[in-house]
Amino acid sequence: MSNNNVKIFDTTLRDGEQVPGCKLNTEQKVVIAKQLDALGVDVIEAGFPVSSPGDFKSVKAISKIVKNATVCGLTRSVENDIKVAAEALKYAVKPRIHTGIGTSELHIVHKFKTTQEDVLERAYAAVKYAKSFVEDVEFYAEDAGRTENHYLARVCEAAIKAGATVLNIPDTTGYCLPSEYGAKIKYLKENVKGIEKVILSCHCHNDLGLATANSIEGVINGARQIECTINGIGERAGNTALEEVVMVLKQHPYLNLDTNVNTSMLYGMSQLVSDSMGIYTQPNKAIVGANAFAHSSGIHQDGVIKHRETYEIIDPKDVGVTESAIVLTARSGRAALAYRAKKVGYELTKLQLDEIYANFLRFADRKKEIDDNDIHQIIETSKVYNEIIA
Ligand code: KIV
Ligand code: ZN
Repeated sequence: MSNNNVKIFDTTLRDGEQVPGCKLNTEQKVVIAKQLDALGVDVIEAGFPVSSPGDFKSVKAISKIVKNATVCGLTRSVENDIKVAAEALKYAVKPRIHTGIGTSELHIVHKFKTTQEDVLERAYAAVKYAKSFVEDVEFYAEDAGRTENHYLARVCEAAIKAGATVLNIPDTTGYCLPSEYGAKIKYLKENVKGIEKVILSCHCHNDLGLATANSIEGVINGARQIECTINGIGERAGNTALEEVVMVLKQHPYLNLDTNVNTSMLYGMSQLVSDSMGIYTQPNKAIVGANAFAHSSGIHQDGVIKHRETYEIIDPKDVGVTESAIVLTARSGRAALAYRAKKVGYELTKLQLDEIYANFLRFADRKKEIDDNDIHQIIETSKVYNEIIA
């Protein structure tokens, strides 16, 4: 595999499941994990095993059924967390322990009430201990986004010395600008001894709406793993949306970065997660929202009907959406009405269309959206109906 391959680390079942009210049971998690495996993600973060007996059970069940992806369990830099995670992961074909600690001054001073040196030692010890159970150990430097680069590099070096295979650089609070996050990854690539032995991972939160942009800047600057969730669900404003980063890389081939994801499964995956968790996906959500391929203004509709690419940068079929939608509203033009009328069985001449369009606008001014039944009604009650069906 070329090193232009960006690994997709899905954390829908761990960071994603931290959304209030979206708890899933083990059976639901197993269904999602199987689909994620089929989607082609490289890593499935199945949960935080020490956090509850239910999470332990889910991680264990997922470890048993996942065939291709690495299965990962989260821990703090605490021996018991690591031991419990190793136990939950013992049936996985490819197990990974994801351990780490907060590294920003805010975390060190206010959360741990300790020193930078102590955090360095704890980071080293956690990775070393995790390595006694599994070969594949990912280390996260929580709040790396707000951690000063020189100290972050020292923490990364300690984790590498202890045997980490992946270094996760989370922008835990979603604070970084894309340029700043990209520069952080570049700095680590250039200043950490042993960095060539590990994969750098982007884990970005969306508090300022920058999670996708930050993750993309991260991989442009040398990271080779993105941590993300389906539909971008997660703590507070959520995580990087898997479907967004995967499609950014696919639609910009000159970046020369690819993933192993089967994009035609993205829409179905989004629906599965949304239905299982009971979280409604906003209609304007990129890639998988109900309006992502819907056109409602007359100018756009005319363009799309003539040539889809005038107003679409993605072929809907590439993400599992059957076709673009031409939505009829009072803003629609004749081209859209003729197109939709044809779909329900009426081939209209120009004169017939002029007549029906006037009726359509009166109807559309009273109703937000015109559906197929309305089209039949508009045509059946028009003066030219007998002529159309003759
Ligand atoms: O956002 C974060 O820092 C995390 C870590 C626990 C990886 O989710
Ligand atoms: Zn997170």
